Amino acid sequence: MSEMVELTVNGAQMKASKGSLLIDKLLDENIHIPHFCYHQALGKDGNCRMCMVEIEGQKRPQIACDTPIKDGMIVRTKGENIEKVRRDILELELINHPIDCPTCDQAGECKLQDYYMESGFYESRINTDTKVHARKRVDLGSNVMLDQERCVLCTRCVRFCSQITKTNELGVINRADHSVIGTFPGQKLDNPYAMNVIDICPVGALTNKDFRFKQRVWFLETFDAICNGCSKGCNIYVDHRKEKYKDDQIFRFRPRVNKNINGFFMCDEGRLSYKNEAINRFTIGLLDNAETNISNTITNMFKELTTQKNILFVLSPNLSLEEMQNVNNLANKLNASVSGYSPNTFDENFKDDYLKTNDRSANRAAFKELEINEEETYFTKKLSDSTLVIIIDNNYFDDNLELLKNKKVISLFSHHCLTIGNSNIAIPISSFYEKSGTYINNAGIKQKVISKINKNEPMESITTVIEHLKSMIEKGTL
Ligand code: SF4
Ligand code: SF4
Ligand code: FES
Repeated sequence: MSEMVELTVNGAQMKASKGSLLIDKLLDENIHIPHFCYHQALGKDGNCRMCMVEIEGQKRPQIACDTPIKDGMIVRTKGENIEKVRRDILELELINHPIDCPTCDQAGECKLQDYYMESGFYESRINTDTKVHARKRVDLGSNVMLDQERCVLCTRCVRFCSQITKTNELGVINRADHSVIGTFPGQKLDNPYAMNVIDICPVGALTNKDFRFKQRVWFLETFDAICNGCSKGCNIYVDHRKEKYKDDQIFRFRPRVNKNINGFFMCDEGRLSYKNEAINRFTIGLLDNAETNISNTITNMFKELTTQKNILFVLSPNLSLEEMQNVNNLANKLNASVSGYSPNTFDENFKDDYLKTNDRSANRAAFKELEINEEETYFTKKLSDSTLVIIIDNNYFDDNLELLKNKKVISLFSHHCLTIGNSNIAIPISSFYEKSGTYINNAGIKQKVISKINKNEPMESITTVIEHLKSMIEKGTL
């Protein structure tokens, strides 16, 4: 462990490890320090000069992103002198900036805008006619749109492609005030993590083609969740909005920092998987493929549960820990079997050596925790013995419908699938992001998600369906 030393920042004493970067300490302590080019995942570059601080004993201001901490260091981030220095640097950054905030998709989450507003520097000394212009719409590929005029040339995007994905698609082209970001001739930005450059771009130079102009960000509400695209369990923000006269809708996923799981990033496929939530939703209960209301489906399910002798529940590895536990409890009451057999969620082509895993499900580790058997031999034996199969969000049967022949089938799904059409009773349930619960990732890390989605007509959760059934069974009546 590195040696701890004392330093003083704006009069407050604190400890930090000797030689670590001053900017990291300031960020960890939530001490405001404007910066463009430094990023904790990409390290220092020292090109923007926005992170200037005063250090006692130093003649000139220093950049915090390239200052190692020393014992007894006295640092000031506030004060007339240092704020003037940063304001002058900001003015430089703005010389050729188009100041087109009203039409910029980054407005509301733009560092340049934030620093400009807090600087109180509202009168521009720059003649707009003399600004150097550049291309406003450069389609880089991978859903990323570049506005070269808005770029502050921090090179975070370039360093992301060289250090993180090692694909090197982006570079700085030309010199001096004609410098712009671009791809090499004939190349596109094309890697499975490319859209992260949108988040790390501190200004509106890189925007998300999928999201831009759909919403103003200040209208969105956000909750913390995890991605269910694979067993990595990347931490994300879910940005959603319930507009007047409309239903609550998810507009985007963004990566949320968790240094123990996904670091600062997520894959593009996981990011765009928010779209799956709204597509092809299963919303109306079915009895022998005829539409009916939910309470009718649950009543009929109760009848089947209390008359059939050999019952098998087949669960999805995407259910929450609590849902699995609830099904287990119900199965115990009924002397039924529970299987987590789900080979269909494995995809070797999806896996890489960064974040993506070969298991496209969020909670397979919970099967182990709850001792739910997921082996093929157990599943095959229990399925052949069963007269009633209850399938919960598990798509394995879509490609194996013949296995359901001559059996009573009850299915609970959030999205339409072939299994529903082959069920005697089908009950619509809430989707992954509409419910709260606990998930265990491939490294055994448990994460709790609390959904804030507020649908006009929320679907029943599995937990509610099971609770209904348990109370019916306890009362022994409908
Ligand atoms: S496009 Fe954005 S991230 Fe890339 S150099 Fe310009 S400002 Fe920085
Ligand atoms: S790596 Fe997996 S969990 Fe992470 S964003 Fe991609 S699909 Fe989602
Ligand atoms: S953040 Fe320190 S120079 Fe850019």
